[in-house]
Amino acid sequence: MGDLEMFSLKGRVAMVAGGGGAIGSALAEAFAGAGARVAVLDRTQESLDASVQRIVAAGSEGLAIVADVTREESAEGAVAQIVEHFGSVDILVNAVGGGAGKVLHPAQEYPRADWDWIMELNLRSTLVATQPVVRHMIERGHGGAILNISSVRANLGINAGYSAYVAAKGAISSLTRQWATEWAGNGIRVNALMPTFVDTPQVASLLADPTFKAGIVGRIPLGRVGETRDLTGPAIFLVSDAASFITGQILGIDGGLTATQ
Ligand SMILES: NC(=O)c1ccc[n+]([C@@H]2O[C@H](COP(=O)([O-])OP(=O)(O)OC[C@H]3O[C@@H](n4cnc5c(N)ncnc54)[C@H](OP(=O)(O)O)[C@@H]3O)[C@@H](O)[C@H]2O)c1
Repeated sequence: MGDLEMFSLKGRVAMVAGGGGAIGSALAEAFAGAGARVAVLDRTQESLDASVQRIVAAGSEGLAIVADVTREESAEGAVAQIVEHFGSVDILVNAVGGGAGKVLHPAQEYPRADWDWIMELNLRSTLVATQPVVRHMIERGHGGAILNISSVRANLGINAGYSAYVAAKGAISSLTRQWATEWAGNGIRVNALMPTFVDTPQVASLLADPTFKAGIVGRIPLGRVGETRDLTGPAIFLVSDAASFITGQILGIDGGLTATQ
């Protein structure tokens, strides 16, 4: 195999939970361009249709599945549908999450309802989507690759009422290491991307505040926030054979932000 061929996802089947979202749909399109067939899961048919169009335009085959990955039976049903349609699941991306900017509260008053919502959206969604995929991978015996989406907030505090989000993302980074350890014997690699702000609709209202944005950009050595395209190359790398000896790693996609702390 030539060195560049190691980055190819030809013959692989990827499941992208949150594949109708900003980051999920960008990763789904990128994986399609690298040769994978891609099943995208999200809550609305509309977001999925747009994502499948991008997968097809990138030269591959897509499958849209409306699912709620905080519900076990919904995630299990989706995995069964992908296996029936494409024959397997080789790659999983957990791109459901976010919500941080919508529920900002002082830590000493963080209300339980918002805490539970952020945990459900970020942490439970990652767990519930992963379990049936890994049961399938272990049963099939061919290994696989999982990519979680953490955040620099797993490692860095921020003076903006983010308690629940930092806790959820910290847990996702910890689970990435735990799962990598637990499933290594099954040939399943587990890594995570750890982005700083990525210019997406989720953070548009935060970044629309010029003072807030200037504060963020001022701390990033490369002098800008991220774009979804900053995530696609690293994601392809981590789920491909080029990273076959890499597991349990949390890769900062942050313009050098965490290097300065
Ligand atoms: N954007 C950033 O700056 C940034 C930075 C660091 C990390 N991240 C992380 O990257 C991930 C993706 O973020 P994003 O900006 O792409 O967010 P996004 O555009 O909101 O994408 C998330 C997608 O997941 C869907 N979803 C929510 N709950 C679901 C459920 N229970 N079952 C199935 N689908 C569900 C959402 O649907 P609805 O729209 O219907 O809710 C949305 O389409 C998140 O984990 C986020 O924390 C983002």
